[in-house]
Amino acid sequence: MDDGPVTPMGGYAARDRAWQPVALHPPYKTSVKRSPQAALLSFPATAGEITGPVFGHGIIGPQDNDLIHNFTGESAIGPRIVVHGRVQDQFGRPIAGALLEVWQANAGGRYRHRKEGYVAALDPNFGGCGRVMTDAQGGYEFRTVMPGPYPWPNGMNDWRPAHIHFSVFGHGFAQRLITQTYFEGDPLIARCPIVGAIQNPDAVRSLIAPLDMARTVPMDARAYRFDIVLRGRRQTAFETRPEGL
Ligand SMILES: [Fe+2]
Repeated sequence: MDDGPVTPMGGYAARDRAWQPVALHPPYKTSVKRSPQAALLSFPATAGEITGPVFGHGIIGPQDNDLIHNFTGESAIGPRIVVHGRVQDQFGRPIAGALLEVWQANAGGRYRHRKEGYVAALDPNFGGCGRVMTDAQGGYEFRTVMPGPYPWPNGMNDWRPAHIHFSVFGHGFAQRLITQTYFEGDPLIARCPIVGAIQNPDAVRSLIAPLDMARTVPMDARAYRFDIVLRGRRQTAFETRPEGL
């Protein structure tokens, strides 16, 4: 039974399949070959996929949530920002202990990757990766530099809006969700073929982090807020799967 969870009040929340991006979106050329060509198959989950392996707070280093300094110790070049928010389920309940991993281009729009082909300069003090775990209230925060837009070989002249990639782990490594956050006011968002695969305007808006002056650090860094909302636990599945979810 592939359906939604029971709400805290006993109501029913159906899965909204139109919220997620479509798999086949020809303006995003890679999606043509990557999208399924046949009907999907369903594989039953095993206990090992759900219960482990696990991770703990011990794996987080002191500078993991400071991308400005965590590559060499020296300050990276670019506009300094704080990105923060809350991870919660669809009913607003906090998700504590979720591991967030982030990666991004530097302020010039270049990734530190051996296959990177953009001519923009590497920043010797910027690696572009970080991680943080959510606290008891589901909150997280990291510091970084504003990533630059970059061109990519898709259409004749496509540019990705400034963005940060997010990976969210649940209680096991098999529970992983990946998304990207964008920044308020970027005119490239509406022009991006990858963003265009998301057909619900509210879903697109949910990925755009607004400027958050309340969390700005004076004379230091601007702040942006990005809240991540996960689908709630599929409680109805407990009745049909003894191992639970
Ligand atoms: Fe990217």
